[in-house]
Formats: sequence, C-alpha cells, structure tokens
Amino acid sequence: MFKGHYRSLSDETRMTCSTIIRSCFSPRPLKKYYAMAVVLPLVLIGCGDEEKAAVPKADIGAGKSLAESQCAGCHGVDGKGAAPGIPNMAAQVERYLVESLLAYKAGKRTHAALRDMTAQLSDSDIRNVAGYYTGLAPLTAATAKEMKEILSPYEKGKAAAVACVECHSEDGNSKIAGTPSLAGQQPLYFAAAVRAYLAGARSKASMEMLRKLTTVDVQSLALFYASQAPAQRAAPKDGNPAVGEPLSARCGGCHGAQGVSTDSATPSLAGQDAKYLVNAIKAYRDRSRQHSVMLDTNSDEEIKNIAAFYAVQESKAAEGEEMTAQALGEKCDRCHGPGVENSAMAIPKISGQDKAYLIKAMRAYHDGKRGSSLMHNMSLPYSELLIESVASLYAAQPAR
Ligand code: HEC
Ligand code: HEC
Ligand code: HEC
Ligand code: HEC
Repeated sequence: MFKGHYRSLSDETRMTCSTIIRSCFSPRPLKKYYAMAVVLPLVLIGCGDEEKAAVPKADIGAGKSLAESQCAGCHGVDGKGAAPGIPNMAAQVERYLVESLLAYKAGKRTHAALRDMTAQLSDSDIRNVAGYYTGLAPLTAATAKEMKEILSPYEKGKAAAVACVECHSEDGNSKIAGTPSLAGQQPLYFAAAVRAYLAGARSKASMEMLRKLTTVDVQSLALFYASQAPAQRAAPKDGNPAVGEPLSARCGGCHGAQGVSTDSATPSLAGQDAKYLVNAIKAYRDRSRQHSVMLDTNSDEEIKNIAAFYAVQESKAAEGEEMTAQALGEKCDRCHGPGVENSAMAIPKISGQDKAYLIKAMRAYHDGKRGSSLMHNMSLPYSELLIESVASLYAAQPAR
C-alpha cells in the first residue's frame, strides 16, 4: 500500500517525504527507531492525502529512445557502465533512478555532465528513462572477474603482519625488550604511530619497512592488531609497580583506568613492554617525541616505576570481533538486500554494481560530498579498508 501512495506523489512531496524518512536513520539506533515510530506514521498520513494526483506510467518505448540517444554512450543500451566509475543501471530500483536524476537536476548531487543533461529532461523524460533501465535484465556474467578480489579486512591485515612477526610476534605480543606489543592497540593511534615514523617525527631504522605500506595496508594492520588479545606480562626486573601506581594518577584521564585506553587515538599502556615504555616516556621528556602533555617532571627512577606499573596491568583488545567483508555485508543487506525495491525508501541495488563506482560513491558519503547521513557510519579508523572490501564484495555478487 505504501508503494501505491509513493508513486502517486508529486516530485516535490516525494522528495520531502523521503528526506524525512531518511532523517529518521540517525547514527543512534535507539533514537532511530523511536524517530521512525513517531515520524513515519505522520509522513504516511501526509503523503497519503495526495493520492488523487495520479502520475502517468512510464513510457518504456520513449525511455528507450532517450537512453539510446543520450545515455547509452556511458550507460550502455543494456545498462552496463561503459568504463570503470560509471554505474550499471540495468534492473536498478526505479524510484531510486528517478530520485537520483532529480537530485542531479536540483544540484543536490553534483556531476557536471549529468547536471547539464538532466536540466534538459522533463519529469516524464526522467520517469520514462528510469522505467526503461529498470526493465532491463540484470547483468550477470560480466562481474565474474571481480570474484577473485574479495578482500576480507581482517585476513588482509593478517597477511600484511607476516612482515612484522620477527619483532612484534605473530599475535602482536612482543617478547623482545624495547620492542612494543601491538596486540589490542588502539587503531587510530596505530596509524598515527606509523605516520610518525614515515614523517621522521619518530626515528627507528627498523621501521623503514613501513614505507611500502599503502593507507589500506596500514588500516588493515591496525584492524588485525587491534583484534589480537593482549597477553599479561610478568613484573619487569627494573622498577616497582606498587610505587608506580600513584604516579599514574595523572595519566589515567587519557590512557584509561589501569592504562586500558578507550579512545581510538590514545594508546593503551597496559601490558606494554616496560623497556619500551621507559624509552617512550624519556623520548617525550627529551622532546625527541611530541606529547600533548608535559611528562618532563618525572625522574628516571619514577619513569621506571610507572613503566613497571603499566607493564603488569591486564589489557583489553580495542576491537572486539574479527571483521570480515561478509559480516559487513550483512549489515548493508538490511537495506540493500533482497526486497530492496519494496522498501519505503528509495534505496539502490548495489549487488553487481561497478566496483570503481561503488568506491567513488562510498568515499563521497564518507567525505560528506554526497548527502545521506545514514551512509556516513563507516567506522573511521578503517574507512578506506572497509570501503575497498565492501566494494569488492558487492561488485562480485551477481546482480539482481
Ligand atoms: C558522459 C557519460 C554519461 C552520460 C552520457 C550519462 N551518464 Fe549517467 N552517470 C555517469 C557517471 C560517471 C555517473 C556517476 C556520477 C556520480 O558519481 O554521481 C552517472 C550516474 C547516473 C545515475 C545515478 C546512478 C546511481 O546508481 O546512483 C543515473 C540515474 C544516471 N547516471 C542516469 C543517466 C541518464 C538517464 C542518462 C541519459 C539521459 C545519463 N545518465 C547519461 C555518466 C554518464
Ligand atoms: C626488526 C624489528 C621490527 C620489525 C620487523 C618491525 N618492527 Fe615495529 N617496531 C620495532 C621497534 C624496536 C619499535 C620501537 C621503536 C621506537 O622505540 O620508537 C617498533 C615500533 C612500532 C610501532 C609503534 C608502536 C607504539 O606503541 O608506538 C608500530 C605501530 C610498529 N612498530 C609497526 C610495525 C609494523 C606494522 C611492522 C611490519 C610491517 C613492524 N613494525 C615491523 C621493531 C620492528
Ligand atoms: C592529555 C592526555 C594524556 C595524558 C594526561 C597522558 N597522555 Fe600519554 N599519550 C597521550 C596521547 C594522545 C599519546 C599518543 C601521542 C603520540 O602519538 O606520540 C600518548 C602517548 C603516550 C606513550 C607512548 C605509548 C606508545 O605506545 O608509544 C606513553 C608511554 C605515554 N603516553 C605515557 C604517559 C604517562 C606515563 C602519562 C602520565 C604521567 C601520560 N602519558 C599522560 C595522551 C595523554
Ligand atoms: C538504513 C539503510 C541503509 C543501510 C544499512 C545501508 N545503506 Fe547504502 N544506501 C541507503 C540509501 C537510502 C541510499 C541512497 C542514498 C542516496 O540517494 O544517496 C544508499 C546508497 C548507497 C550507495 C550508492 C549506490 C549508488 O548507486 O549510487 C552505496 C554504494 C551504498 N549505499 C553502500 C552501502 C554499504 C556498503 C552499506 C553497509 C556498510 C550500506 N550502504 C548500508 C540505505 C542504506
């Protein structure tokens, strides 16, 4: 019944309704459903009133001629994007095609060629061409080549970490004095530390190897290590944890209770190698490493004790579960999965979509260049990694 209502609306009412419906999907799940419960019925009542203003059906023949003369060069007559970065449109959700064309026309979505083209299209042209592309058979075989490339974020990190095993151990719990454990470490801090070595703000000959890593590599390593369980350490020979404990009072506000950080940009100190902690704190004191607070009041003796205190604390992994492309996909499928064409919102099909286009679209959401707050929730420390993984997953799925 909802579908019928929706189809019969004027373009303007439809945009307004969809905006309200979309705005219900705030990042906070509880608020979201509450807002849905309150707002959605109002929207439905409001939208239902316009039912009488009937909209003519799409003229598929007219849509086909329009597509052949103006769109086929890029979107194909079969709805297949002619080059990477151009979306496939065969069997796409009709209402979504209409809405995106209206969004280009209204300047809400920006793309120079489409703005100029849609400026020339009437509402019925838009309806017809959308109807034409929706009616085409889904593209199937063409995406097979993408099948090999599915990236599982966690597996990718695990593979990259092979280069680090010699010093940081297989699970990131280092056993070499002076070499930090990476297990359970906070991901934004991890990425910042790698950047600091690359920028020369922290120097260590052994870290030269980090130069080869791409952003996606660094994020996948951050994810892999953040998901490893930190081991408990025995008390170091130097330093007294009991004496160090009161000295840590100034640190807990940022580094968390007992050194277990809950902030992605602040490192956990719990369970860290004591010698590494001593070196790091002294490096801040000597200004060879920058820190947001002054640590230079500590004597060498105090530093040893504070390091001993943190070294023996039990830590906790920053990332809970192992993240796979499939697990992510299940979250996306709540909206983009089977039945998407019957949704109350204009939601596109993304299975079998062009991979380069998917990456472009998700980056645009992430960077705030394409509005749709509900698409912004890709967790930040891994955004590039997740975008690539999920794009490869959907590009490899058969189109529906
Ligand atoms: C010069 C190449 C070109 C031509 C010609 C062209 N498009 Fe596109 N189209 C694109 C590109 C590139 C995008 C992706 C733009 C973006 O990132 O927003 C796109 C996006 C779209 C979208 C949004 C799809 C989605 O999944 O969000 C629709 C709908 C669309 N085009 C319809 C048309 C129609 C209808 C025509 C003919 C009237 C047309 N296009 C002609 C290149 C073209
Ligand atoms: C040859 C031994 C060695 C190898 C191999 C090595 N590291 Fe290290 N790594 C170290 C040492 C030693 C330090 C501490 C340097 C310092 O005091 O700044 C360190 C520090 C780090 C830090 C900073 C940790 C913190 O708590 O600030 C990160 C991040 C890191 N390494 C990542 C990696 C990654 C990723 C790899 C593999 C691609 C790797 N390392 C390979 C020896 C190594
Ligand atoms: C205002 C917040 C704040 C306070 C207070 C603070 N820290 Fe930090 N600490 C940070 C941040 C942020 C970093 C990461 C800095 C960087 O990128 O080098 C850091 C880094 C460190 C590191 C490096 C860890 C590693 O893995 O390389 C050590 C060691 C450290 N702090 C110890 C301490 C101690 C000891 C105290 C208390 C005496 C303290 N910090 C107080 C915010 C704080
Ligand atoms: C709550 C519902 C919802 C969820 C969950 C959701 N999406 Fe979306 N998605 C939408 C809507 C609505 C749009 C259309 C927004 C617009 O017009 O820009 C969209 C658009 C997109 C597009 C643009 C497609 C195109 O043709 O331009 C991509 C790509 C996308 N989503 C990927 C994802 C991924 C990946 C996930 C999981 C991490 C996800 N979405 C989760 C509702 C959702």
